Amino acid sequence: MKKAILLGVNIDHSATLRQARYRGYESSCGKMVEPDPVAIALAAEQAGADGITVHLREDRRHIQERDVLRLRESLHTRMNLEMAPTPEMVKFALTLKPDSVCLVPERREEISTEGGLDAAAKIAALTPIVAAFSQQGIAASLFIDPDQKQIDAAATIGAPFVELHTGAYANAYYDNEARAREFRRLCKAAEAAANVAIKTNAGHGINYVNISEVVEIPHLHELNIGHSILCRALMFGIDEAVREMKARMREGFSLAPRP
Ligand code: PXP
Repeated sequence: MKKAILLGVNIDHSATLRQARYRGYESSCGKMVEPDPVAIALAAEQAGADGITVHLREDRRHIQERDVLRLRESLHTRMNLEMAPTPEMVKFALTLKPDSVCLVPERREEISTEGGLDAAAKIAALTPIVAAFSQQGIAASLFIDPDQKQIDAAATIGAPFVELHTGAYANAYYDNEARAREFRRLCKAAEAAANVAIKTNAGHGINYVNISEVVEIPHLHELNIGHSILCRALMFGIDEAVREMKARMREGFSLAPRP
């Protein structure tokens, strides 16, 4: 029997909303500062999230250091920290000790993480970082585009996980030809990762519509989903949003694979 795919809920955009109103006023506005990402995370866990993901960006545009510290103390499931592979962030993460880290590229101007990490071009820099996390029992994942050369690099680096960037697939969703091409790329990359014993996560742009096809990517361990879940939470609450995504993951999973 196929193993169920886990759901990691990315709560970054709950902090985006808070920062839109309260950036710089956190200490003077006290309890009025809302929403609280920790409260959102705990409610997501209650609704069935298998883990919580946050990205502490260099520009601190959404999640702040104190959010991460409070989450580390409060979460009941697993904490996955997305981070740029910089010395400052590596030091921070080794002290924090999240359950896992996902190494992502960071460019200040982008709204979210736009492209995968070029692991193939950074083998020498990433190898000791992944090793330092492994030594502390922290599983490191590389957020990469679904390309063979990136999988090969992840294997050379010794990464136990990759997170396949599903953005190109999600953006192509309503163009049948491009979508099929991007879907094949994701499936091929997941097969390639399995062949070298690397576990596969996936994320970026996954929503309540494309989820039924996304779950057909072979060998998936976990999906990291943020924007669509938080958008649905605005309408129906985080509990309903997480339960609905879990239900669709299960439903898609039980459908016969497409020809
Ligand atoms: N995975 C990674 C590595 C990301 O950078 C992001 C975006 O922050 C996500 C998953 C979640 O993407 P989305 O918010 O589009 O669901």
